[in-house]
Amino acid sequence: MTLLTVDDLVVDHRTPGRPAVRAVAGASLSVAAGEVVGLVGESGCGKSTLARAVCGLVPAGGGTIAFEGGRVTRLGLRRRDRALTKIQMVFQDPYASLNPRRRVGAQIADGLEVAGDRETTPGGMLERVGLPGRMAGRYPHEFSGGQRQRIAIARALAARPSLLIGDEPISALDASAQAQVATLMRDLAVESGAGLLFISHDLSVVRLIADRIAVMYLGKIVETGPTAEVWANPRHPYTQALLRAVPEADGLGRLPQELAGDVPDPADPPPGCRFHPRCPAAMDVCAEREPAPGPVSCWLYPPA
Ligand SMILES: Nc1ncnc2c1ncn2[C@@H]1O[C@H](COP(=O)(O)OP(=O)(O)OP(=O)(O)O)[C@@H](O)[C@H]1O
Ligand SMILES: [Mg+2]
Repeated sequence: MTLLTVDDLVVDHRTPGRPAVRAVAGASLSVAAGEVVGLVGESGCGKSTLARAVCGLVPAGGGTIAFEGGRVTRLGLRRRDRALTKIQMVFQDPYASLNPRRRVGAQIADGLEVAGDRETTPGGMLERVGLPGRMAGRYPHEFSGGQRQRIAIARALAARPSLLIGDEPISALDASAQAQVATLMRDLAVESGAGLLFISHDLSVVRLIADRIAVMYLGKIVETGPTAEVWANPRHPYTQALLRAVPEADGLGRLPQELAGDVPDPADPPPGCRFHPRCPAAMDVCAEREPAPGPVSCWLYPPA
C-alpha cells in the first residue's frame, strides 16, 4: 500500500527583498507501508524542504502531497494537522525533536498519549531502543548524542506513526553510532509496519538500510530505483558521481574532479537540465530543454 505520494511538488522560500528560492522544483516521490526510502543529494538540494512540506511545516506552492490515500495539500490547517499526526520526524539535532527541559519519560509519554496507548510505558519504549527503562527520569543532556537520538526515535515511535521521517538523523553521531542508530530506526519502523523516509548524505548508510533510493539534485528527483539496482548500475551521471564519492576505507569522501563546483543557486537555476553545467556527459539538448521526469530524468535515457 502506498502511504505517501509526492507528485510534482514545488516549494518556494520567500524572504522579503530577495528573489524567491525554489528549493523544491517539481519533485515526485513515494513511500509504501513497511518500506524504507533513502533520499540523498548534496547539501542545499532541497531534501529538508521536501520533508518539511510533507509534514505541513512549509506550504506547497504547487503539486500534490497525498498521505494514506487523502490529498493533504489542499486541506485547511486544522484538518491537515489531524491528518498529519501519523507522520513523525526525527531531526539531526535531537534537541529539535526533544525538549531539553523535560524528563525524557514525560516526552515519550506525550507520544503514547497521541496514540491513545495506555499499556506501553515510557520505560518500555526506552527498552525498545536499547536503553534501560529506569533512565526515563533523566533529562536529555544526561545522555550521549547517540542515546539522545535513540530517545528521539522512541518518542516518535510512541505516537505510532504510519510514516517516520529522519532528516539527517545520524549525521551528528560518531561513526560507530551511525550505522547502529540507522539500523535501529529501520528495524523499528518496519516492525511496526510504518514507512521510513530516511534523508542522509551518507550513501553507505543508505545502502545498508534503504529498499529504494531517490537521488535529488537542485530541487528535483533525478533518479529512483531499488537500492541494489541503483548501486550496481547507477544511470544518471549525477548518481554515478555521488556513488564514486562514497568514502573509501580512508574515510575521505569527496565529489570527484569532474564535478568540481557547488550546487548552483536554486534562486537562479541553469536552463535545460539543472545538472548540465557540471555534467561530464552533457550534450547540446541538455542546455536547452529539461529532461522528462521518470526513474531516470536525463537526456541520455530519453523516454521510449
Ligand atoms: N527558511 C528558508 N528561507 C530561505 N531559503 C531557505 C530556507 N530554508 C532553506 N532554504 C534554501 O533552500 C534550499 C534547499 O534547502 P534545504 O534545507 O531543503 O536543503 P537540504 O538538501 O536539506 O540541505 P542539507 O543537506 O544541507 O541539509 C537551499 O538553497 C537553502 O538555502
Ligand atoms: Mg537538510
